[in-house]
Amino acid sequence: MTAPFFSPSFQNQLEQLLIWRRDVRHFRTTPLPTPVLDELLETACLAPSVGLSEPWRFVLVNDSRRRDAIRQNFMRSNTQELEGREGKDAERYARLKLAGLDDAPHHIAVFCETNPKQGRGLGRATMPQTTTWSAVMAIHTFWLAATARSVGVGWVSILNPQEAHAALSVEPNWQFLAYLCVGFPEQHANTPELERRGWEQRNPARRRWIQR
Ligand SMILES: Cc1cc2nc3c(=O)[nH]c(=O)nc-3n(C[C@H](O)[C@H](O)[C@H](O)COP(=O)(O)O)c2cc1C
Repeated sequence: MTAPFFSPSFQNQLEQLLIWRRDVRHFRTTPLPTPVLDELLETACLAPSVGLSEPWRFVLVNDSRRRDAIRQNFMRSNTQELEGREGKDAERYARLKLAGLDDAPHHIAVFCETNPKQGRGLGRATMPQTTTWSAVMAIHTFWLAATARSVGVGWVSILNPQEAHAALSVEPNWQFLAYLCVGFPEQHANTPELERRGWEQRNPARRRWIQR
């Protein structure tokens, strides 16, 4: 089979995709055209996984009561996080918008089946966390595929995972990993929102690597 040729122009486009991928917290409420979400999820499943275990489990959260439970969970968790901070740090934290739960038209919870039959345990004996990492790779693949279609994704982790699990009534052996808000973004940016809001700067040292 002949592999496709990825031209320098495609490589440049891919670099732009990575530069413009953002965590989005401000969404337009318009839903995505019907097949798009399915196509993005299909693409996410192209991610690598330990032993070919494909342990990611995506849950489209459409039920308004379940969404509401997640929203309440976020509000409690966010308040706790705020209360754990003091002075200027608390003031700055309070000004951040850390989830697009109210406006995002699509909500996707992502779980990992931590010890699936598929893959027959290959690669997991010494590092059982590798199923979790595999599922995270699927999230990243979803995120990039979404960016390529001008679809925004916001990862919400300010949640109590046990309560999120209970709110979504999924298999007991699924580990809650992420709650994704998905939809068209209000705006596009090539810098992280946390940087633009003065919370944190990307560190130039991240571009250095060491040799051994
Ligand atoms: C594991 C993980 C959890 C995150 N949780 C949150 C969150 O709860 N709320 C939020 O606003 N952003 C969250 N983010 C987004 C990060 O803040 C964001 O990726 C970072 O600021 C860099 O911005 P960028 O993704 O736009 O490059 C999370 C990202 C990751 C990878």
